Amino acid sequence: MGLKILPASQFTTEELTDFYNQTRVDYLIPMPMSEAVMAEYIHDFDINLELSPIIKDEETDEFLGLSMLGVRGDSTWITRLGITPASRRRGAAAAAMNAVFDASIKIGAKKTILEVIKDNTPAHTLFEKNGFKKTKELLVLRRAPIRPPLSPEGEITWLYRKDALAALRSHPNKLTWVNALESMENASMFQGFRIKLKDGTQGWLVYRHKKQTITHFEFHTERGNPVKMARNILLFLHFQYYRMDAYAENFYADDPHLPAFFDLGYFEAFRRVEMIKEYS
Ligand SMILES: CC(C)(COP(=O)(O)OP(=O)(O)OC[C@H]1O[C@@H](n2cnc3c(N)ncnc32)[C@H](O)[C@@H]1OP(=O)(O)O)[C@@H](O)C(=O)NCCC(=O)NCCS
Repeated sequence: MGLKILPASQFTTEELTDFYNQTRVDYLIPMPMSEAVMAEYIHDFDINLELSPIIKDEETDEFLGLSMLGVRGDSTWITRLGITPASRRRGAAAAAMNAVFDASIKIGAKKTILEVIKDNTPAHTLFEKNGFKKTKELLVLRRAPIRPPLSPEGEITWLYRKDALAALRSHPNKLTWVNALESMENASMFQGFRIKLKDGTQGWLVYRHKKQTITHFEFHTERGNPVKMARNILLFLHFQYYRMDAYAENFYADDPHLPAFFDLGYFEAFRRVEMIKEYS
């Protein structure tokens, strides 16, 4: 099939939203996007539309698929990759991959990162075939809006923008693209708080809250017991926002705070696999 590749920058956000939704009608986990969410996504996650390919049929100009490419420092990030159901298995995704690899190499990137839902065999096979190696598994957790059963212990201090960013800067681990410092710096609305318990345990949480959902959690225990820190900070969070749903993405499977999440009614919605391709 003859394909042509156009930069996403040639299209409006409305067109890009429509393109993306066309590729996800049969997706494993339904994730339709509105135009406003797409605009926020492009902005917050540093998507470079010049380098993001739109794949069309060369003859008919029919839309076949797309990929988006985030760019930060010496890394690029593949996201929103999708081909319309009727156009699959004809090399459109392979063409999109080649376009983002060429773009990444051209701008001097050392690696490209992505996350794929664990049981998405077609995408997983595509990425392995294109040189991506699995690094870690990431959990996506959800919690229904229910009032917590206990009151939190400890002394709480709220963290507004400047202090929340300072806390994130102090995080000792590498954070995934969606939760990274850059994503928070780009975001319009986030905050957090710090907790100090009597036994000396202390730490912080930074999160975003949007309409009915609390999202983008980042945690760190600076001293003491991580489960105790997370349990009390989550109790405080869910007392504040007891009518809100919680969506906590990209926790590494060995995150020491996880038991506290499960104790407080979070469940694993699905898993992602982080994959990286290095350029030599
Ligand atoms: C995954 C997806 C992007 C593949 O697109 P595609 O255009 O059909 O892929 P291509 O035709 O370019 O295939 C390239 C290679 O990927 C692998 N692949 C693609 N579809 C596959 C499938 N259904 N089963 C196993 N391997 C598959 C194969 O290795 C294939 O090479 P081959 O055809 O020589 O065997 C497409 O199925 C899709 O859009 N799925 C829904 C959205 C999605 O999962 N996006 C990825 C999110 S991370």
